[in-house]
Amino acid sequence: MRVLVLGGTRFLSRAVAVAALARGHEVVCAARGESGPAPAGAALVAVDRDQGLGPLVGQRFDAVVDVARMNVRWVRDALAGIAARHWTFVSSVSVYDAGGALLPPQEDAEPADPDGYGKVKVASEDAVRAARPDALIVRAGLICGPGDLSDRFGYWPARFARGGRAVVPDVPDQPCQIVDVRDLAEWIVRCAEDGTGGTVDGVGPRSTLGAVLDEVAAAVGAPDLERVPVAPDVLRAAGIEYWAGPRSLPLWLPPGHLGIASHDPGPAAAAGLVCRPVAETARATLEHELALGPDRDRRAGLTADDEVELLAQVPA
Ligand SMILES: NC(=O)c1ccc[n+]([C@@H]2O[C@H](COP(=O)([O-])OP(=O)(O)OC[C@H]3O[C@@H](n4cnc5c(N)ncnc54)[C@H](OP(=O)(O)O)[C@@H]3O)[C@@H](O)[C@H]2O)c1
Repeated sequence: MRVLVLGGTRFLSRAVAVAALARGHEVVCAARGESGPAPAGAALVAVDRDQGLGPLVGQRFDAVVDVARMNVRWVRDALAGIAARHWTFVSSVSVYDAGGALLPPQEDAEPADPDGYGKVKVASEDAVRAARPDALIVRAGLICGPGDLSDRFGYWPARFARGGRAVVPDVPDQPCQIVDVRDLAEWIVRCAEDGTGGTVDGVGPRSTLGAVLDEVAAAVGAPDLERVPVAPDVLRAAGIEYWAGPRSLPLWLPPGHLGIASHDPGPAAAAGLVCRPVAETARATLEHELALGPDRDRRAGLTADDEVELLAQVPA
């Protein structure tokens, strides 16, 4: 197949390009090139989607994969300007509200609206379905693995590999659901090959935070690692954030938001998504973390100083 990846220079879209190349396809990536190079073997067409799709307009591909994060106009322009036998749009489980209902579509996000991302994804999905009822729309869950720059899942392999006393939120039964970027990418390519359409949650198996952290610790934990469970009220009183961002414990969910990590993985599995063990994701993510530099300023997690301060409040 001749595959166009709208993106291709970072994380998921790059992994899609890598997977398509590995499966013997010709790959064209379209991006500004600011996030990095396209993978070796893929062509990079330099486009800034804010300015249009330039030389791609009027071209025909066997498959197009669009990861437009939050821009309905980009989505419509691509559908109007480029022809393809198969179309994939990467959406997100953020299209659901905390109760599991679909958010209303919205063309632009209000800066203060925490659901803005999901609403723009809903509008983007609608634009895709209107133009291509046969498209595949992948509502991805938390994507993990090599190339992830969000510092969320990667916090745990990096922290456990460092060893010593590591704070973990004392919510072992909390839902936790991840999907390895390489598995998601390969599945997207296979769906394009097979002509699979429809709207599917692109999520891995349902698990718990306790089980996922057990697997990470077993895979990459230092011999002297001691996980120190700290109660949610103690964490909150110390100003520790849920899920992501500075001074957070990544993957820890606020009460009332557990649904984001417990979607039904059945439809994606039935459509061919095969998920590797968490241990493999942890090992590859640790390599990526070490390459980025474990002592860098992180986008998510606790600094060593934050953690020492917190541990001082917890009996040894
Ligand atoms: N990470 C998660 O856990 C998660 C969860 C659910 C859903 N998702 C979705 O999964 C997808 C992830 O995509 P991704 O990992 O490839 O990263 P991304 O950051 O969403 O996509 C970035 C790609 O778009 C290109 N790009 C950015 N601005 C551009 C512009 N003005 N013109 C042309 N290209 C531009 C970038 O290349 P250049 O910078 O080189 O131009 C890069 O290749 C997104 O749709 C996201 O919403 C992610």
